[in-house]
Amino acid sequence: MKITIIGAGYVGLVTAVGFADLGNEVICVDKIPFKLSKLSKGISPIYEPGLTELLQKQIKKGKIHFTDKIEEGVNFSDIIFLCVGTPNGDTGKADLSQVEEASIDIAHNMNSYKFIIEKSTVPVNTHQWVETVIKRYLKKDIKFDVASNPEFLKEGSALDDFMNPDRIVVGVESEKAKDMFKELYKPFVKKGIPLIVTTPAAAELIKHASNSFLAMKISYINMVSELCEKVGADVNMVAEGMGYDKRIGRAFLQAGIGYGGSCFPKDVKAFIKIAEEHGVDFSLIEEVEKINLKRRTNFMKRIKNVFRIIKDKNIAVWGLSFKPNTDDIREAPSIDIIRELEKSKANLKLYDPQAEEGFKHIFPEKQSLKYFDNKYEALKDTDTLLILTDWDEFKGADLDRVKENMRLPIIIDGRNIYQLKDMKKKGFEYYSIGRENFDPKGMWK
Ligand code: UDX
Repeated sequence: MKITIIGAGYVGLVTAVGFADLGNEVICVDKIPFKLSKLSKGISPIYEPGLTELLQKQIKKGKIHFTDKIEEGVNFSDIIFLCVGTPNGDTGKADLSQVEEASIDIAHNMNSYKFIIEKSTVPVNTHQWVETVIKRYLKKDIKFDVASNPEFLKEGSALDDFMNPDRIVVGVESEKAKDMFKELYKPFVKKGIPLIVTTPAAAELIKHASNSFLAMKISYINMVSELCEKVGADVNMVAEGMGYDKRIGRAFLQAGIGYGGSCFPKDVKAFIKIAEEHGVDFSLIEEVEKINLKRRTNFMKRIKNVFRIIKDKNIAVWGLSFKPNTDDIREAPSIDIIRELEKSKANLKLYDPQAEEGFKHIFPEKQSLKYFDNKYEALKDTDTLLILTDWDEFKGADLDRVKENMRLPIIIDGRNIYQLKDMKKKGFEYYSIGRENFDPKGMWK
C-alpha cells in the first residue's frame, strides 16, 4: 500500500520505517530542513536501536523517501498519518497547533478521497475538530474519513514495539475506514496481534488512559518504597510479590527516581486538563504527578543527608537520559538533580553512553562540570557515584574497578541496579530506593 506520514519525529519516523519494512511504499513529510537532509542520507536524527540500519535498507530499496512538500505527500497516497507533535501548552493542555496546521495543509492540497489517521497523542474528540478544520478549508466537495490509531511505542525498543505490539487500537466511524485499517494491519493480524476496533473518542482515550495508568503504577510503587525504607522492608521484594498476581503484573513496578521522557509527563498533564475541562475529579492522577516530582527532591535530600556539605564534593553521575537505550533527555530526572547539585557547588563528572550531546546544550562543559567518554574515568577521585539511569552497562560494571577509582566508595543509586549482598561484599557505602541503606563503618543510622 502507499502511505503518507506527516511529521518525521519519533513516532512518525518509526512508523514510516516500519511500514516500509512491511513492503509498503512510504513518503514522509517534514518541515525541518536539517532533519530532512539527514534522513535523506539515511541518518536518523534520533538514537533508536536498529533504526538507522533499517532506514538505510529501505532507502536503498526505494521503499521510503522524504520531502518538505506537503502537496507531494498528500497526492502520494489516500492514507495519511498525522504524526506531528502535541506538546503541553502553558497550562499543561495539549497544544494542537501542529495538528491544525497539518489539517489545513491537507485540506488545501487534496484532490481525491483521503483517509486521515491521527497517530499523535491528542485529547479526546480531537478527531471531530480535525474533521471540522478540514471541511472548513476544503475548496471542493471531496469525501474523507478521520480516524484515530494511537501509538504505544517505547523509546529504546520502538521498532520491536511497532512490529510486535500487544494490540493495535483503531477508532473509526465508517465501514470504509474500518476496512482500510484491516487491510493495512493484515500482516499484524496474521501474526495473532489483536486489532481492537472502537470509536475514535474511545481510541483517543485509550492512549491517555493507558499512559496515565502506567505512570500511576510507577508512582504507586515509589510511594510504597518510602514506607519500605521507614519500616525496613525491601521494595523489590514487595513488587515481586505483588507482580505475581496476574491482575497486577510486575511491569512498571520498578521503584526509583521517577518517570521522565516525552510521553508520561506530557500525557499525565494533558489528561488532567481534559478532565478539568469536563468537570471530572482527577485528583488521583494529580497525585501521580506530585509523587513523581517529589522523587527528585527526595533524591537530593538523600545526597544532602549523606554529605551535609555538598560544596566542592567530587560527584560522578552515571546516566543522564530519562531511561536506558535512548539519547532522549526530555523531562529526565537528571536535569533537576544536576541543576540542584550545581547550585550547591559540587564538582560534577558526568557520563552517559548516548545523552552527552543533548545534555551539553543545557549544561555546557566548564571547570566544575566535565563530561567523560569512559565511565571509569569519570570516577577518578570522586566522593560519590550517583546512578540516575539503569543502562545495562552500569549493571554489568566491574565493581572492583569502580571502588579502586573512587576516593570514597559511596554509591547513591536512584534506580536500584545493584544487589545489596554484592555491595555489602565489596564494602561499598550504598544507598538505594526503598531498600536497606548501609555503610561498612556503621555510621549510617
Ligand atoms: C511510554 C509508554 O510506555 C509508551 O507506550 C508510549 O507510547 C510512550 O510513553 P517511553 O516514554 O518510551 O514510553 O518509556 P517507558 O519505558 O514507558 O518509561 C517511561 C519512564 O518511566 C522512564 O523514565 C522510566 O525510567 C520510568 N519507569 C518505567 C520507572 O521509573 N519504573 C518502571 O517500572 C518503568
